[in-house]
Amino acid sequence: MDFRQDPRFSEFVPFESKLWLSSPTMHGQEQHWVDDAIRTNWVSTVGANINEIEKEVARYVGCGYAVALTCGTAALHLATKLAGERLYGQARPDRGTLAGKRVFCSDVTFDASINPVAYEDGEAVFIDTERDTWNMDPAALEKAFELYPDTRLIVLAHLYGTPAKMAEIRRIADAHGALIVEDAAESLGAKYRLNGKWVETGALGDFNCISFNGNKIITGSSGGMFLTDSREDAEKVRKWSTQSRENAPWYQHEEIGYNYRISNIVAGVVRGQLPWLDQHIAQKKAIYERYLEGFKGLPVTMNPYDAESSEPNYWLSCLLIDREAMAPHVRGERDALYKHEHGKSSPTEILDALQAFNAEGRPIWKPMHMQPIYRSNAFVTAEGTGRGRSNAYIQGEGLDVGADLFARGLCLPSDNKMTAEQQDVVIKIVSACFD
Ligand SMILES: Cc1ncc(COP(=O)(O)O)c(C=O)c1O
Repeated sequence: MDFRQDPRFSEFVPFESKLWLSSPTMHGQEQHWVDDAIRTNWVSTVGANINEIEKEVARYVGCGYAVALTCGTAALHLATKLAGERLYGQARPDRGTLAGKRVFCSDVTFDASINPVAYEDGEAVFIDTERDTWNMDPAALEKAFELYPDTRLIVLAHLYGTPAKMAEIRRIADAHGALIVEDAAESLGAKYRLNGKWVETGALGDFNCISFNGNKIITGSSGGMFLTDSREDAEKVRKWSTQSRENAPWYQHEEIGYNYRISNIVAGVVRGQLPWLDQHIAQKKAIYERYLEGFKGLPVTMNPYDAESSEPNYWLSCLLIDREAMAPHVRGERDALYKHEHGKSSPTEILDALQAFNAEGRPIWKPMHMQPIYRSNAFVTAEGTGRGRSNAYIQGEGLDVGADLFARGLCLPSDNKMTAEQQDVVIKIVSACFD
């Protein structure tokens, strides 16, 4: 479809410079700390920037220790490995710590959340999503423990910066003696009220991870952290991340090692960004609220959160098209087809319209249970197994929640450098899609 020729969009001209989904926002101090690393010759995996960001993030999140790593995926890998070792003991060097074990995993998330389960030879069982926060559904998790009572590990992500229902999930985990790996890659700065006390995401699990990827609320260009209250766990992750050297004058190894430690240069970028975290969150919140206001009257809702017990970091603003307002829209493995109908639209139509005017959106994460790579893994909904549910003799069975969010939802341009005027145009483009 040529949107620029379509009369519904005749009032728009493409944005001169692209509106991004969420791009890095540098402030200048990053340069100072990078230069400092180079000037002092501390450019490797040791140095003041690393020490400082570990101290500062631990203070901000309210945990005892932070270990800075090359990326959030590395943090998730070592967190998952540590959990596996805690539960099932040390594995042989050629085996993962989760070999032969099931792990209950968030379903609507980036695959980096849950791939470390496979790195450690475990089997991910995907848990369906609830509608109140778009995160792991406690009712589905409860069902999963009925189906697989031996499971002892949960990997949970807070989607798009909105905290999951941690009180319920912690209660269920405790009742079954299970541990939680918390993926707070997208939610740094988001808070959850647990037993009447506000706790930062990144301090809610037993093994916790954040990311400084380029699209996150603050960035180091790359980078991530493992967060914990346990000194022993922090020391173990630091050791594993630097090739697992033993205390000997030569390279002596009793455990498998990794090259996952952050560089002092990348840490310099993070150091320069940290003072801006709260401002970035405030900007993202303003963007979310402007969309909320601008979409009044349209057949859409936005990514929800529980205002009583959580304060998101509003990393990405998303919308969900009302069921009745969905125009015909089908997706194959790599492409999508849609048709416009008056008063209706579809995620692909909106994303194409935004792209035509030089703005970036994105589909909701395709659920992990629908990904070709994990198609044969178990999937559990609040009703029980989510696999093999269709039946030629029964009409009208619904989609699981994750598949439904993927079918009707999308992520909007959420860059904190987008001006209010530019965002108003985005809102008008989205509105025009429904004309
Ligand atoms: C939910 C989630 N988990 C993990 C990651 C991985 O972080 P990194 O890119 O720093 O490895 C990301 C983003 O990149 C993410 O969005």
